[in-house]
Amino acid sequence: MAVQISPSILSADFARLADEAARVEGVADWLHVDVMDYHFVPNLTLGLPVVEALLKTTSTPIDCHLMIDDPDRWAPGYAEAGAASVTIHAEAAKAAVRTLRAIRAAGARSGLAINPATPVDPYEDLLPEIDMLLVMTVEPGFGGQSFLDIMLPKIVKARGLIDKFGGEVWLQVDGGVSAETIERCADAGADVFVAGNAVYGAQDPAQAVRDLRALVDKG
Ligand code: DX5
Ligand code: ZN
Repeated sequence: MAVQISPSILSADFARLADEAARVEGVADWLHVDVMDYHFVPNLTLGLPVVEALLKTTSTPIDCHLMIDDPDRWAPGYAEAGAASVTIHAEAAKAAVRTLRAIRAAGARSGLAINPATPVDPYEDLLPEIDMLLVMTVEPGFGGQSFLDIMLPKIVKARGLIDKFGGEVWLQVDGGVSAETIERCADAGADVFVAGNAVYGAQDPAQAVRDLRALVDKG
């Protein structure tokens, strides 16, 4: 699978989201939108109305990462609104299979995320229900944190489970992904890279996306 880069608007200027989305349009594969609710994580960002507004302003597919309690209740709405990918957290879902199926039924790709302390092995049986597995490489909640190297063996393990399963499940990493760390993630088996600070903290976000891609896209 070709390498994909998903810039996180968590590090963008929230007062100018349309402009910030436009800065990576045509260069980024996805726009990563972090939905946080002050409950599942100790931070509050945005919700469905802002995602709906973004969908109207950008042609880049939206990759919604829901760091919220009760994703079973809220996740399908993001897919129905037109987000092309909707990821829920394994730690928060009470009916993950039903919710992942509802996301797909609404026409989006279904994603399952696991926090740093959550092992990947118990989710092997869910691989047929998902289009993407997200291995968090920081504790979720904030941009600009340091990449957790201790997650690399889990990425390797996740890659092994996906290859054994044999279906097309993308393996996303999120948190501290930068020019310094992206190659380690790719070598471990990740193929979708979220980058917040490394893209929106750069002078030229589009060039930052190109540079990140060049480090891991060996053609
Ligand atoms: C963190 C979010 C990330 C965040 C990553 O909880 O899920 O998407 O924006 O930001 P960086 O790339 O700066 O670590
Ligand atoms: Zn995220």
